[in-house]
Amino acid sequence: MVSGVSVCLADRSYSIAIGCGFLRSFVDQIAFLNLKSTVAVITDDNVGPLYAECVLHSLRVANIEAVLLTVPAGEKSKSLPVAEGLLDKMADAGLDRSSIVIALGGGVIGDLAGFVAAIYFRGIPCIQIPTTVLAQVDSSIGGKTGVNLASGKNLVGSFHQPRAVLVDVSTLQTLPEREFNEGFAEIIKHAIIRDADLFEKLQSFDCANIDDLTSIIQRNIEIKASIVSQDEFETLGLRALLNFGHTIGHGIENAAGYGNLLHGEAISLGILAAARLSVSHAQMPAADLAAIEALLIRFQLPTQLPASISTESILTALQKDKKFSAGQIRFILSPGIGDAFVASSISIEDIRREIEALR
Ligand code: NAD
Ligand code: GLY
Repeated sequence: MVSGVSVCLADRSYSIAIGCGFLRSFVDQIAFLNLKSTVAVITDDNVGPLYAECVLHSLRVANIEAVLLTVPAGEKSKSLPVAEGLLDKMADAGLDRSSIVIALGGGVIGDLAGFVAAIYFRGIPCIQIPTTVLAQVDSSIGGKTGVNLASGKNLVGSFHQPRAVLVDVSTLQTLPEREFNEGFAEIIKHAIIRDADLFEKLQSFDCANIDDLTSIIQRNIEIKASIVSQDEFETLGLRALLNFGHTIGHGIENAAGYGNLLHGEAISLGILAAARLSVSHAQMPAADLAAIEALLIRFQLPTQLPASISTESILTALQKDKKFSAGQIRFILSPGIGDAFVASSISIEDIRREIEALR
């Protein structure tokens, strides 16, 4: 059975289909697009061998021509040179204004392919088929697309909402354990900022049970879809809550060198630091902090910063983040589980102290 969640954005509204094992017939879910032109399926060299044939099969059955474009797996592919290579190949394959891009993979592919779709012919539609936990509950929803620069994460990009998101939870069965656990950093973040019940469920949840996993994924999709529906461009202070743990997390990810710590692993450290700052600056009870740390550990996420990453390199990276404007920090704090707000009371010295506390 395939269920649906809507992202409500007037003429940019779309639905997110959630189910198990529907990839081989996914075209049924996007029949409304009435595809006639060549489609670009963009994937990476881990996901392609596992799922590209399924996707191409479904397109073949519907008589839709497709070109498969594969990039190396990993964060380093989220770059301008890789995006340019894809754009050249799309032009060579004759993709036009009525073509679409299908992003098949994790958050790296979703962000990269979404960005390519946003700028090719000044914007063609994109369908997201996320295959990691992180991409299914977070990155495929909401239209943030982009690539990294050497000096910072996601510094080049565009808002480009997908026309549909197709979440086949069965694809998670091939995800290596480290990448599976990584996605729980964003799930734990959703629980901290929005949903105390979800937090409680995660404390005893059995990942091996596909029905329980599907229900956790669906709940997280609902949280993300609702936030994006209310604050698409992060102007009302609501979508900014999704950055809980990301100010310090992005600094750590960048300072570690892209690909050395997985995104969710860096965010795990950022969540712990943000929770500690919530205790000192927002009256979060110490018991909540202890429960957050225990939950990160339950999903084998790091709670200790690798010694090789210096505090200064994190602070330098962090100050290039989009969340800094004119030296002001918009930092997300949470007074308890299920609640969060944007604070302007956090100083760079507070952040330095919490980075040191992660050692
Ligand atoms: P990823 O895309 O690098 O995927 C992780 C690894 O798993 C890769 O090696 C990939 O090849 C492999 N993989 C993917 N699906 C698989 C499957 N089903 N079976 C086997 N292997 C599979 O990483 P990610 O964690 O999914 O995404 C991280 C990226 O997402 C970061 O670049 C981050 O900045 C971005 N992100 C974006 C948003 C947004 O709103 N746009 C939100 C959060 C994170
Ligand atoms: N992942 C943060 C956002 O979509 O806003």
